[in-house]
This record gives sequence, structure tokens and C-alpha cells, in this order.
Amino acid sequence: MKYSAYIRYTQFLVVLVFLVIIAGGVVRMTQSGMGCPDWPKCFGKWIPPTTVSQLPPDFEKYLKQQDIDNTFNVYHTWIEYINRLLGALLGIFILIHAVWSFRKFFYTKRSVFLWSLGLVVAVGFQGWLGKKVVDANLAVVKITTHMLVALLIAAIPVYIIYLVREREKVKHATLKKLTSLALILLVLQIVLGTEVREQIDIVAKSLNYTQRELWIDRLDVFFKIHRSFSLVIFAAVVGIFLKSKMITQLSKVALLNLILVGVLIFLGVVMNYVHIPAIAQPLHLLFSSILIINLFAFRLKLQ
Ligand code: HEM
Repeated sequence: MKYSAYIRYTQFLVVLVFLVIIAGGVVRMTQSGMGCPDWPKCFGKWIPPTTVSQLPPDFEKYLKQQDIDNTFNVYHTWIEYINRLLGALLGIFILIHAVWSFRKFFYTKRSVFLWSLGLVVAVGFQGWLGKKVVDANLAVVKITTHMLVALLIAAIPVYIIYLVREREKVKHATLKKLTSLALILLVLQIVLGTEVREQIDIVAKSLNYTQRELWIDRLDVFFKIHRSFSLVIFAAVVGIFLKSKMITQLSKVALLNLILVGVLIFLGVVMNYVHIPAIAQPLHLLFSSILIINLFAFRLKLQ
């Protein structure tokens, strides 16, 4: 296939973005967000300490910035550090992608190169926002923006693959409209989800990250809207599935959408009734990210 190595590398970028998203979820699940109180260094070092004796002389300055603990916890520090390393690695791979896109497509298909440049800008913005989130002790609006930009970073390589492949589209006006609508609704649902997540952060912190059985009851109306709205998403995805199940190019992706929504709702119900098991949190985040990217890929197949 033409450009197959380039396409495989671009697909690899999508996988790496999901890995970075999981790493972010694990950081939160283990409350390691402030494991490195400064940015981009960690306790003023490029390779963070592994023992108390390796802390810098002015270590109290760093510990004071933490919202919980205020002690050195090697696990928190290294989980956060690995998360940052993955982010940095993604940045480097994206830069290489931009150079490759320039060499391959600048004169033949400039839009591919421009999108790869857009990817560099988005990742740079995300890094900058990451610093802001650390500075502001993981403040509210920034977390939602961080999530949306992460999804954009996953969506751009998918779009680039679509531009390079030039596959024939399926003509289906109703399905196209329905999928666009489902995408808009899903973005809304994800924004609602990050609002719920922010509330969980506040409640969890106020209870010192214990008594999980109380967390759900302390959420406000946003949680109820988020919970019920998932049925709207479910209905839209079922509709898309029914309309595309006889179309060979679409049926598999449509089925995957349906499975992903099912898993997401299942995880939501588990969180609701089983006191938010920690593992369900990053999984809920990961599957919603995969769902929206899969739905976007599906939309690109339609004309
Ligand atoms: C289409 C279905 C759904 C989607 C796309 C979705 C998406 C999301 C997203 C993106 C977040 C933010 C995660 C984060 O930032 O870490 C979230 C959080 C959350 N959602 Fe959903 N959700 C769905 C269904 C549900 C359902 C049915 C429930 C409950 C019955 C639920 C309960 C929650 C809870 C409790 C959180 C906070 C989780 C945390 O603290 O990590 N969700 N959701």
C-alpha cells in the first residue's frame, strides 16, 4: 500500500495518545498529581529523587506546594514523572512526524503537512497547560480544556490518515447527519463528565480520599444529567448501528461504537453502585476517549 510506513507511524501516534491518557488517569487514581510539585523539573531535578536523602536542600519549598500529603512519596513522584516522560515522548514523536510530513507531503499534499504542524501546536499548548494545571494546583476549567485538547491530539492523526488514504466514502445523508449529531452530543457528555470528575476531586479531597461510599451522594445535578444523558448517546449509537449494519465498510466500526458505549455505561453503573472503585475511573476515561475517536473515524467514512 502507498505510504504504508507513514500511515503505520501515524496510527502509532494515536495509540501513544491513548497511553498518555491512561497514564494521566493512573496519576489521578493514585493521587500522584502533585508527586512532582514543580514543572518541567521534579523537585528541581530532571531525574527525580528515589529516597528522602536525595531531596534537594530546599525541599520544603516544594512540599509546601502540594495539596495533600506534604511529604515525599516516592511512588507518587515516579508515577507523575513517568506520566510526564510519556508526554515528552509523545511530543518528540510528533515532531518527527511533522518533519516526515514535511518531506513527504509539502509539495504534493500540503494539507497533510499543515495538520501535522497543527498537531505540534496542540501538543505544545497541552504541555503549557500542563504547567498551568500544576501551578494552579489542578484547577477546574483547565482540566476540561486539557481533556478536550487531548482528544484533539488523538483526532488529528486519525484525520491525517484519512487525508493520506483517500478512500472512497459511503454516501448516506441520514447517517452522516446522525453521526455528526452524535459527535456533538458526545463532546457535551464528555464535558459533563469532566465536570463530574472535578466534583469527585473536590469531594474526595474533603474526605481525605477515604469513605468512597459517600462520594456519589455528594455530587450535584451535573452527575444526574451526565448519568441520564448517557441514554441519549446510547440511543444515537444504536440508531447509527442499525442504519449501517448492512454496509460492509461501516458495520464493524459501528458495532465497536456500540460495544464501547455499553462498556462505558457499565463502568458508570459500577461507579454508581459500587462506590467508585479506583480502577473504574481511568477505564471510564480511556473508553470515552476511544469512543469519540472511533465515532470520528466513522464520520470520516461518510459523505
Ligand atoms: C456515553 C456514556 C458516557 C460517557 C461518554 C462518559 C464520559 C465521561 C468522562 C469523559 C468523564 C471524565 C473522566 C475524567 O476526566 O477522568 C466521566 C466521568 C464520570 N462519569 Fe461518565 N460517561 C458516560 C456514562 C456514565 C454513566 C452512565 C455514569 C453513571 C451511572 C457515569 C458516571 C461518571 C462518574 C461517576 C464520573 C467521575 C469519574 C471519576 O471521578 O473519574 N458516566 N464520564
